Amino acid sequence: MSLTALFLDEFWSLVEVTLCCKMMTEDHSGQYIKQVFNEMMEEWGIPPHKVSAVTSDNGENIRLALELLDNPPNHMRCFGHTINNGVSGVISTCQGLQESLAKAHSARSWLSSDKVWRAYVKYVLEMHNKTPKMLPSPCKTRWWVDLHIAEAVVGQYRWMWGFVTSYRLGKFLGEIPSRENISVLKAYVKALKPVEKISSLLCAERYVTCSMVLPMTYILDPESSFYGGEDLALNAFTTLQWVTEENEEEMDQGQEGEDDDDIPLSDYAALQPKAIHRAISEKLKKRYNPPLPPDDDTRAAIEFERAAACNTVLCRVSFLDPRFRSQILEADCTLAKTGLMEETVDSAAPPNRAENRGTTQQNQNTAVLSAASAVMSLFKRRRQEHQGQQEAAIESDPKDAAKKAFAKELLLYEGLPDAELTEDPFKWWQGHSGSLPLLSRLARKYLIIPASSVPSERLFSTGGNVIIDTRTSLTGLNAEMLIFISQNQAHCPLPV
Ligand SMILES: *[C@@H]1O[C@H](CO)[C@@H](O)[C@H](O)[C@H]1NC(C)=O
Repeated sequence: MSLTALFLDEFWSLVEVTLCCKMMTEDHSGQYIKQVFNEMMEEWGIPPHKVSAVTSDNGENIRLALELLDNPPNHMRCFGHTINNGVSGVISTCQGLQESLAKAHSARSWLSSDKVWRAYVKYVLEMHNKTPKMLPSPCKTRWWVDLHIAEAVVGQYRWMWGFVTSYRLGKFLGEIPSRENISVLKAYVKALKPVEKISSLLCAERYVTCSMVLPMTYILDPESSFYGGEDLALNAFTTLQWVTEENEEEMDQGQEGEDDDDIPLSDYAALQPKAIHRAISEKLKKRYNPPLPPDDDTRAAIEFERAAACNTVLCRVSFLDPRFRSQILEADCTLAKTGLMEETVDSAAPPNRAENRGTTQQNQNTAVLSAASAVMSLFKRRRQEHQGQQEAAIESDPKDAAKKAFAKELLLYEGLPDAELTEDPFKWWQGHSGSLPLLSRLARKYLIIPASSVPSERLFSTGGNVIIDTRTSLTGLNAEMLIFISQNQAHCPLPV
């Protein structure tokens, strides 16, 4: 288990430190993770209210651990994992896809056997004067490997077809996918290529804020006015252009082979990209932008509560990002403004705030636990939000200085032009912190939340480098310390 902290220093520069990596001795129960988490917080002297949010994978045990804390922080569920989840679902729900993928896999394994591969390479060299690229090896836990295999098979299909018809009198024709299968695979590649890019961007080594999550879910949602449609890739990348420059090369490199436009998408396949996006977007919505559950479904009500909590944070983050605030729905902005105003007013209120927080959190938890009331609390909350919104509009409470100041800043903020996509949102806020003191404080708090826990998980690969066979006498504690140092190299003073 590893815990990475992100924070902004006084110059609005992002700092990333590994707080700890621990060999988990007992089983990874929520109770145990909670205990380890608490210990780490204490060891570093981080008070609970300073934690904006915790981003984790979708493990139930981590969720449980966070809910068990006295002051449960916001919990953001990793975008990368959620996308993975959505894509895996797609493969099993889109009819014909599984079969076509299976075909691509068997073609790969047939072609990759030594003897056949040599003959194939010879054939392609003779007929096309090119050398085919090896087909990627399969990997069950990584959906994008399937995508790469499909891509390679589609890209080289003409060669494969020419080869298989001439090789050993066409005896192996059945080994490679049919044209219909290729048509389905093409649709699959078309639909998922941009999704792969989106998820790899959001899990990039370089920190990417949560503010992209909502815009991304809208771009993937065929029901949304932001849907990228046929140009999904293009639209997504215009949105993300600030991080893509370095990825462009990789994107263009594509698969070699000939452009094979003599296999158009069949009518069925042509509908697939949208269906695939819809399926992924359903999963994303469930996590980040939930529809109301049916009255009698208590499980759904609990899930809804969690997702709604996520959504609340995401709306605020996107609203506070001057690059993305106009790429979310009006309703999201309203929700964000109301919530942020409340937060500002709350924190301006006299002390015993910590206690207040505690009780509301506790109330919320009880609501989560007693499922029936979860739905009620939801309606109540929506109503409160609605009321809050009205009050915000009228600015009806002249006594409340904080409220007024906040409303004034809000007006100013919304009047400013959107930031360029290439701009660093932290630098933007640094530049505006003088004129927007309240909002910039909130921006510090919310924009720091990472969209993905993947960077933290990279630690496991560091772990792999440290715990190598030659160090058989390495004790658990020493291994932890070595990983800790190697992760935090940037912050260690150089030896003289
Ligand atoms: C895959 O190809 C086989 C053989 O032509 C065909 O029977 C099957 O329906 C195809 N499946 C899909 C999903 O295209």
